[in-house]
Amino acid sequence: MDPIRETCERYEVPIVEDAAEALGAMYKGKNAGTLGHLAAFSFNGNKIITTTGGGMLGTQTPEWASKARLWATQAREPGVAYHHTEIGYNYRISNVLAGIGRAQIRVLDLRVQQRRAIAFRYRDGFADLPGISLMPQARYGLHTNWLSCFLIDEAQFGRSRDDLIQSLAANGIESRPVWKPMHLQPLYADTQCYGGSVASDLFRRGICLPSSSSLSLEEQIFVINQVRAAVSAPSLDTFHEAIAC
Ligand SMILES: Cc1ncc(COP(=O)(O)O)c(C=O)c1O
Repeated sequence: MDPIRETCERYEVPIVEDAAEALGAMYKGKNAGTLGHLAAFSFNGNKIITTTGGGMLGTQTPEWASKARLWATQAREPGVAYHHTEIGYNYRISNVLAGIGRAQIRVLDLRVQQRRAIAFRYRDGFADLPGISLMPQARYGLHTNWLSCFLIDEAQFGRSRDDLIQSLAANGIESRPVWKPMHLQPLYADTQCYGGSVASDLFRRGICLPSSSSLSLEEQIFVINQVRAAVSAPSLDTFHEAIAC
């Protein structure tokens, strides 16, 4: 973010953070979503905190917050009459769903710990397998490990990423490639593109393993052992063995 902020300040470009999946993540001691001028958070069903759908806009500029509230509530001007001077939208989250989200904010730190524990348990469970590595953690930040994402080096691992996805699926475990980058989406095929090789490489090799905070230890060990089985590595026998790794 530092180079982005420096560049944007120089050219007076406001920063809108897509912090959709970054609730609880930190950058140099500051929360993701507080580093730019505006931030969007997602509370979609797969997120670390969920209201089943919807999200939240963040800003430290009170006038922008008021404006966003106005637009999100059909741009209805104050007063009892339905009076509009500009176009608005119906983008509110209901108070029932907001209540569900607010209650979960209290356990955000616990959720982050749970997600990180799952990622590190997988990492430790694969410690002796070549060619499968947890995405690196920056020293200057806190990664929530909202998703446990690993990179597969096919030559070392012995199976491709897609092979592994299929082999896990055959054993009832859902896993997915990491997100397809924008520049590879057919929708943008005719659009100019700068760079993108890093994202393409991550998309080719990255796999998201089951990451839900509610995964039991048994389920996590099952995932570890099915990944191990995919490359004919022996299972971890006991939970203690997995925890001690
Ligand atoms: C980086 C990023 N941006 C945007 C979104 C979309 O969020 P929503 O599903 O709340 O529209 C997601 C959802 O996963 C995301 O990960």
